[in-house]
Amino acid sequence: MGLWTPLLLLLHLAVCVSLPAPANVSITSYNMEHILRFWPDPRTPPDARFTVQIHSTRKQRWKTVAECAELTAGQTCNLTSKLKDMFGYYLARVQALRTNQTSNWTSSNLFHPLEDTFLGPPEFSVSGCGNCLVLQVRDGPGTPSYHNEELKDLHKEMELNVRRTRDGAEFRLKQSYQQETVISYLQPGVEYCVSVSFKSFINRNSVPSEYRCAFTSPPPPQHTLFLVLGLLGGFTLLVVIFVGRFIYSSKVKNQHLPSMKFRSQSYTCLMSSLTEEDGVTT
Ligand SMILES: *[C@@H]1O[C@H](CO)[C@@H](O)[C@H](O)[C@H]1NC(C)=O
Ligand SMILES: *[C@@H]1O[C@H](CO)[C@@H](O)[C@H](O)[C@H]1NC(C)=O
Ligand SMILES: *[C@@H]1O[C@H](CO)[C@@H](O)[C@H](O)[C@H]1NC(C)=O
Repeated sequence: MGLWTPLLLLLHLAVCVSLPAPANVSITSYNMEHILRFWPDPRTPPDARFTVQIHSTRKQRWKTVAECAELTAGQTCNLTSKLKDMFGYYLARVQALRTNQTSNWTSSNLFHPLEDTFLGPPEFSVSGCGNCLVLQVRDGPGTPSYHNEELKDLHKEMELNVRRTRDGAEFRLKQSYQQETVISYLQPGVEYCVSVSFKSFINRNSVPSEYRCAFTSPPPPQHTLFLVLGLLGGFTLLVVIFVGRFIYSSKVKNQHLPSMKFRSQSYTCLMSSLTEEDGVTT
């Protein structure tokens, strides 16, 4: 019994001094830019540091990433230049460190750059060309004209989602990657919105672009509409004036007679009153 107690105490101490391992080690990759992330265990002391190692299935050994040997909690590790072989398979692992203390390693899932990277979102502009739309895919981190030649091989296909604004009717087109694309057989003078994503037969991960909208041909322009309305208004005004004048003039014609009658009546009244007066005076 006397011998067991210190031994148990030592064992207990040994367990306590070892740090909890980090959690959720993962590599997220967009357009062949690979970033490793991890979450420290909540019980990890704040002065702990983290170290990263990578393992390629070709070399079969773990190698410390010098740039990521002393990370603090919340920092990430840029593995872009370390996982260069896009056809390779890699593992990454993270360990918490402190003076005389280390945690167990926590590994990521197997990472295959070619398959696991997310492509896009494509940057493009859209403009009308009558009964069609022209799409211009622009340079950007997600597009093949960017200096990264590896991405060129990945952008084999483009998927276009075309939606008619008026009723939300939508259709999908698949085609090989081109910097300029024409979407034909659309209704002229109608607004459509387009979203583009890259696809390749190896890589099915992609980030679609936002929808960009354009009219196939100039929409029934507002000013033409106003012109038509204005002309219509002017014409109506003319008709009203014409009809009004016609009615007025015919009324005036009719008024001439009564007014003449009135005058003649008043005249006769005056005459009769005069004669009456005459009669009175005489
Ligand atoms: C480290 O790993 C060993 C064996 O997998 C396990 O028994 C031990 O509990 C782990 N330690 C910690 C702190 O998680
Ligand atoms: C790890 O990820 C899982 C699922 O995404 C989540 O439930 C868990 O809380 C994460 N662990 C830590 C320590 O962040
Ligand atoms: C990661 O490293 C690559 C080159 O190695 C660089 O082009 C890229 O900007 C870096 N990304 C971040 C988020 O630091």
